[in-house]
Amino acid sequence: MKYNEIFKNGYGEESLPADFDYVTEINKLKKEKNAIILGHYYQIPEVQNISDYLGDSLALAQAAEKTDADIIIFAGVSFMAETAKILNPTKKVIIPDLNAGCSLSDSCPPDEFEKFVKKHRNHTVITYVNSSTKVKALSDIICTSSNAVKMVNSLPKDEKVLFAPDKNLGSYIQKITKREMVIWDGACHVHKQFSLPRIVELMKQYPEAELIAHPECPNEILIISAFVGSTSALLNYVSTSKKQQFIVATESGILHQMNLKNPEKHLIPAPPEDSTCGCNDCSFMKLITLKKIYLSLKYELPEIEIPEDLRIKALIPLKRMLDLSI
Ligand code: 13P
Ligand code: SF4
Repeated sequence: MKYNEIFKNGYGEESLPADFDYVTEINKLKKEKNAIILGHYYQIPEVQNISDYLGDSLALAQAAEKTDADIIIFAGVSFMAETAKILNPTKKVIIPDLNAGCSLSDSCPPDEFEKFVKKHRNHTVITYVNSSTKVKALSDIICTSSNAVKMVNSLPKDEKVLFAPDKNLGSYIQKITKREMVIWDGACHVHKQFSLPRIVELMKQYPEAELIAHPECPNEILIISAFVGSTSALLNYVSTSKKQQFIVATESGILHQMNLKNPEKHLIPAPPEDSTCGCNDCSFMKLITLKKIYLSLKYELPEIEIPEDLRIKALIPLKRMLDLSI
């Protein structure tokens, strides 16, 4: 068994004193080892607070490409950490819990995707970054929710597009760009379960509130939203809008930064279909804790490993995106 696998199974079991000061110890180790923590907006607040760089998937990929740290601790999910490794192979990229996957990425198995691509040979394959390295390697251009429209519009008007894996983001950009597209039938378990009736109920309760949504939400929610955008675009919208109340249809972690930047504004998490908590959490994002960050930094494990031939294939469409994003 590979050491990374052992770490996956035994992870987080090392006992530490109840009063262990994770923040101080993490900061000490970071300095000693020239490490950096990249954190996504869906992380728990304590993890966001300790991150050296916080951002959406595009900003984190750009930060991973540029960093001169020796170790990248990725406080996010596997596809994000893999993207960092593809872009910066000489760095040690560590994810504090290897189980931090992504249901959207899992909805696109590489073998089936390869058949789908072969069936649509005359299409340009644009793949959302929420995908496995193998799926990226079968693609022509990668995109994120920040730049999907830009990536599609970078192609000649008559070029046929195959978009994967998110059907909601795919149909949203198809509507904006009016391109001929075939779209893979994938979705994220968090965004697909926002409840339209419960959101409409909230809108009646808060008539002054604006509904804002991530493009991974179903079309029925996007069409009634005042604004649709990536996590960083949603954050920016709340900060710059004159409105005071917002119903936020994306993973609840983003509310932490929205609240920090806009303490006077009222933020209401959009409710999922089947829940009494009124919020929507990504179970994968929430696997990362301060304890796991501390242990992963201490042992420098579990490390992201990608076979070099696969990494080079996945790098081409990723670089194409980054070059077009400047
Ligand atoms: P962003 O690119 O908007 O940060 O989204 C990432 C993600 O996983 C959304 O579910
Ligand atoms: Fe993947 Fe959805 Fe979690 Fe984003 S919120 S990381 S798309 S499972």
